[in-house]
Amino acid sequence: MTQARSRSGRARGSTSRPDNHIIVLFGATGDLARRKLLPGLFHLAAAGLMPDRYQIIGSSRRNLTDEQFCELARQAIAEFGPGKPVGQAWETFRRRLSFASAELGRTACLVAAIDSAEQQIGGVPGRLFHLAVPPAAFESTVTMIGAAGLARGSRVIIEKPFGTDLASARALNQTVHAIFDESQVFRIDHFLGKESVDNILALRFANGLFEPVWNRQHISYVQIDVPETLSVEERTAFYDQTGAYRDMVVTHLFQVLGFVAMEPPTSFDARHLREETAKVFDALKPIDVRHVVRGQYAGYLDEPGVPQSSQTETLAAVRAEIDHWRWAGVPFYLRSGKRLAASRQLVTLGFHEPPLRIFPACTPTSRRRRNEITVDFADPGSITVGFLAKEPGAELRLGAAEMIFRYGDSFCTACGLEGYERLILDAMLGDQSLFTHADAIERLWEISAPLLDNPPPVGPYVPGSWGPQPALDHLVAPYRWHLPGVGARRPARRTTADSPASR
Ligand code: BG6
Repeated sequence: MTQARSRSGRARGSTSRPDNHIIVLFGATGDLARRKLLPGLFHLAAAGLMPDRYQIIGSSRRNLTDEQFCELARQAIAEFGPGKPVGQAWETFRRRLSFASAELGRTACLVAAIDSAEQQIGGVPGRLFHLAVPPAAFESTVTMIGAAGLARGSRVIIEKPFGTDLASARALNQTVHAIFDESQVFRIDHFLGKESVDNILALRFANGLFEPVWNRQHISYVQIDVPETLSVEERTAFYDQTGAYRDMVVTHLFQVLGFVAMEPPTSFDARHLREETAKVFDALKPIDVRHVVRGQYAGYLDEPGVPQSSQTETLAAVRAEIDHWRWAGVPFYLRSGKRLAASRQLVTLGFHEPPLRIFPACTPTSRRRRNEITVDFADPGSITVGFLAKEPGAELRLGAAEMIFRYGDSFCTACGLEGYERLILDAMLGDQSLFTHADAIERLWEISAPLLDNPPPVGPYVPGSWGPQPALDHLVAPYRWHLPGVGARRPARRTTADSPASR
């Protein structure tokens, strides 16, 4: 098996483990910690990927005893983790957990907990702070770490969205840089930790089959499409201030676009990889509001805490353009929304159609949406090549055909890590490749300014539908959205629409 060198120089696929660590989880009683971080840390421990010696300190403004925090972690892992919190694995893990309440101006308890963890571990363990707190608390938490004298030699993972526009992102970067050097800062986008997003780099740069056609000469459009069946659930306070564009498009979809569109990097180390994404972002044209659709699902205004006058979009679709040699003239359509007909995470590249006059029996239906490569990056992920083939029979008639790679068919997916797990591991290893640089996030807010300053009105859509029409279809004309598939134009029921077989 070919093994690539890791971005930090370690051999990818080898079982390199981080040095001893103290992990401080701010927001430890919150939703993200429960759903992703605590189960993820337990999974890393069970997979033998945590350091030899480590301690996890949960922290928030609330007062919890160590026992209460252990119980919160046990329940979270039982509900959301891939492995169950039982047996030796759980007993070992629970002994590493403790809790220390903290807030700006009240850090003695946290400092004492870190001192005690350091003594238990011995030597000089690494220190990783994970800010799983609401965006409004990023600045105060960073300031608190600095004021408590804990920043030196530490690393910090900062959640998203990082800012809400260019001015706020700059201000946040200033606060962060007053306390931490950029080399200590890990701005997280968990999409970049997904196996299938990383695999875009392998698909493109390890195969002579794909890279030669990965450009404007061969590709006519790209779609990065992340519809969700989820509603805003209990997150209305956050969501109504944020909306789909900031929550998903700036935070996740543009980062995926960076991987799809970048030039071959000199290596996969953090500097080279981030240089190439930065070039893509530099070449992005400012968003043109004429090429934006904002939608709001019917019933959003009745969600608890949402003001009746809210113009927050629960769906955003934009046409982005990259003004350089590889991609000039190729539209990149990015779309994400809540309460849509299906939950999918797809990148689709549509190829120029060859002249088909020599196939008189080629019907418009058989031609539609073929000549596409589709990367499904929801775990465990797959890649589908859609093309035209001869239908069996005496006539030379074309029909739509597919070649599909499924992770599970070719590899053992049991060894895979979930996005957050992979990124927390990378942060402990000091590998910044999959984390966003300060300049990159500022650039994304900069090109977003026309839309943020002058958002078009939101169009209503029916929950369980594919969003406001005909606006969405007009946005991609003369092309078509890859989703929904042919024959699935009506709102689909969640059970069938979510199944891969329904494509
Ligand atoms: C989060 C967004 O960052 O990503 C959510 O805040 C969204 O609104 C989620 O649902 C989607 O991520 P996942 O884990 O389903 O890939």
